[in-house]
Amino acid sequence: MSGAQKTYTVAVAGMGKRGTHHADACARNPRFKLVGLCDIDPTRLEAARQKFGAEHVDTDARRLLAVTKPDVLVFCTLPQIRLPLIQAGVEAGVKLIAYEKPVATSTNEALEMYRILRQAGVKTVVSHQHRYGEHYQKVKDIIASGAIGRVHTVYGHATGWMMHMMSHMVEYASWYNDYAEPEWVVGQAAGKEKFADVHASPDYICALIQYSNGVRGIIECGAGAPDVPEVDYWWRKCRVGAQGTEGFAEVLTGGGWRAVTKNGMSSGPGCMDYEHDMPPYVQGIADWLDDPAKIHPCNGETALKGFQVMMAACRSVVQRGKVSLPLGPGEPELETLQHALP
Ligand SMILES: NC(=O)c1ccc[n+]([C@@H]2O[C@H](COP(=O)([O-])OP(=O)(O)OC[C@H]3O[C@@H](n4cnc5c(N)ncnc54)[C@H](O)[C@@H]3O)[C@@H](O)[C@H]2O)c1
Repeated sequence: MSGAQKTYTVAVAGMGKRGTHHADACARNPRFKLVGLCDIDPTRLEAARQKFGAEHVDTDARRLLAVTKPDVLVFCTLPQIRLPLIQAGVEAGVKLIAYEKPVATSTNEALEMYRILRQAGVKTVVSHQHRYGEHYQKVKDIIASGAIGRVHTVYGHATGWMMHMMSHMVEYASWYNDYAEPEWVVGQAAGKEKFADVHASPDYICALIQYSNGVRGIIECGAGAPDVPEVDYWWRKCRVGAQGTEGFAEVLTGGGWRAVTKNGMSSGPGCMDYEHDMPPYVQGIADWLDDPAKIHPCNGETALKGFQVMMAACRSVVQRGKVSLPLGPGEPELETLQHALP
């Protein structure tokens, strides 16, 4: 882009942990100007106003958007609040909505969100920002170099439960498989305690994925997923990687990377770090708004495919057998799964 670069105005809704991360990253990037902050909790909102000094603050996102008319809406609310904020952003005429995983709480909700977004031509980005970690990138580079031969299996597991962690696992495993289309999913699940959590989930879930290039995906999340003893921090006990005909390469979210390839063994450090991962994540938003060809690596259409893998696994538990993708409307997956589990 030649000449002065455009500054994009941003409103952030949901000033908890992740909203603060997003506001901070936007405030530090000269390509963005924070014009509005929103939280339903006035105390949190006031703390955010003092920290970031945005011109407008409001406890109601729709009202804030009507006043500020930003280029970008960021929202970082808990999983139950997705469709209303997508609607509010589209109605206010934003160009891009960046929001937190998981994409939605059901296929029906996700399909409605993306119907509205596509009709309005609004871009979306979903926060699967772990991929910016140098250890995640190193594994991608090793796989892409051909050093592990022909990839036949990708995998990801996390001790954290489904609505927290599964879309991360599917996203990065699919990335390591060059985002080949997922064709069908077989799933199994166990345990109902975590349905009481705000990230309502079965205690344990696993999914086998058939990708269009013949690669098998294996995903597990929650109580019963393999431990990653090399990692102390519980939420970062995740292992994502690929096996090929000549070796494997894998990342541990809190414990670096390692590989065995035709050239021998290698390993290196790395740990998921918001401070490190958020700046390139928000820079990618400006890049995509500048140039439609520079699609954000965490774009919402890709995230939607990963979300459908997760929902297909839930449907498979209930319906049994293979569930073909893409999904159409159906029974709300979480409620139906909770009812079906013993
Ligand atoms: N990508 C990641 O690495 C990562 C890490 C942690 C959490 N998350 C996700 O981020 C999301 C938010 O998690 P968090 O830990 O920041 O939660 P949080 O509870 O710290 O913050 C959520 C905030 O949203 C506010 N809120 C609720 N309803 C609202 C509304 N209608 N309008 C405006 N504000 C509203 C709440 O008052 C709260 O301050 C979740 O979906 C979670 O899964 C992602």
